[in-house]
Amino acid sequence: MPRLREIPAYARLPLPVAAAEGCELILRDGRRVLDLYGGHCVNTLGYGDAALGRRLAAQWQELSFVTNALDHAPRAEFLQAFEANLPAGGWQLFCSNSGAEANENALKIALAVTHRSAVAAFAGAFHGRSAAAAAVTDGKAAAYPQAPLRVIRLPWGESGCLPDFVDGSVAAVIVEPIQSLAGVRVPPPGFLEALRAACDAAGALLLFDEVQTGNGRTGSFWAAQHYGVTPDLFTTAKGAAGGLPIGLTVVREEVAARMDPKLLGSTFGGGPLVLAAAAEVARRLSQPGFLGNVAAASAALQRAASGGPVAELRGAGLLLGLVLEPGLTAAAAQAALLEHGVLTGTSNDPQVLRLTPPLVLQPQQAQRLAEALEQLEVPA
Ligand SMILES: Cc1ncc(COP(=O)(O)O)c(C=O)c1O
Repeated sequence: MPRLREIPAYARLPLPVAAAEGCELILRDGRRVLDLYGGHCVNTLGYGDAALGRRLAAQWQELSFVTNALDHAPRAEFLQAFEANLPAGGWQLFCSNSGAEANENALKIALAVTHRSAVAAFAGAFHGRSAAAAAVTDGKAAAYPQAPLRVIRLPWGESGCLPDFVDGSVAAVIVEPIQSLAGVRVPPPGFLEALRAACDAAGALLLFDEVQTGNGRTGSFWAAQHYGVTPDLFTTAKGAAGGLPIGLTVVREEVAARMDPKLLGSTFGGGPLVLAAAAEVARRLSQPGFLGNVAAASAALQRAASGGPVAELRGAGLLLGLVLEPGLTAAAAQAALLEHGVLTGTSNDPQVLRLTPPLVLQPQQAQRLAEALEQLEVPA
């Protein structure tokens, strides 16, 4: 046994996983667990997708890694496939390695192009653990002694007060179109539109953090399209390369024209292997029936959940929050569901269980959730 230990940042679930296939984890004893958590929204195409595997193997043989000082074919392949799924308008993007990094770069761009010093962010928000991303995150992740920017904290979902807070000092308002970790909190009707209007009035940039809501998760390519509100910048990560580390900062052309491109850089970001993967994901998302399956699987999960001890269901597509009946916590429900072979996620709201399965979940697989939920007992 090595003496070396990993810093115990994570409480690990009692799940001795040996392999995985499609939407199922295969345990060392051969048992199969339905994964409705999907590795925090990462496993867009499910586990072990054959076409993605072939593409990666071929890319590795052909050109495994090369410095960003050189161009390569997977970059052009990715840009073409990704562009097809973007909201209307002209965009430019920058490739990095994680959601936090994508947000860090977006915030840096917003501060630089507006020459302003503050960023507005929401109560309950999660944007990552690096310095600026942690500063706009609400809660204990912001463990730095000081923030690299001034943060104005806004109440979630309240349109009326936006003009009071979003003023001429605000470079950007950063928002998860659906707050995931906070407990799958969807924006009230008209809220994102009001935010767009408040940013326009103040000359502030609207920045959508689509790290979770992007890449088909809501049933549209982007939550921006789902809600019909287009930001000035958006970020994504997680599912964009189907399991390889990626961060993308996507910027309207007009904004990109105002920035010094030398603000940005990354050793690994935009390498051939990861962009080959991201191109495959973007292409698959746009194939006929892919997003239709997200809608069908979402409907099936919602039907399955309606038979269980669930007081309220919220979210969109395959980002769903099950608000459990009083007396049953998400932690207890997660443990009990695991006993019945179904993996789910918890959230910062102790009553909310999260479902974020691979987007290739088959609607009939939701039956296993229905059966597992039926076994749940609500403590008296
Ligand atoms: C909405 C959102 N933004 C940013 C991040 C940070 O992403 P990463 O962990 O890849 O840095 C996360 C991660 O959970 C997230 O959910």
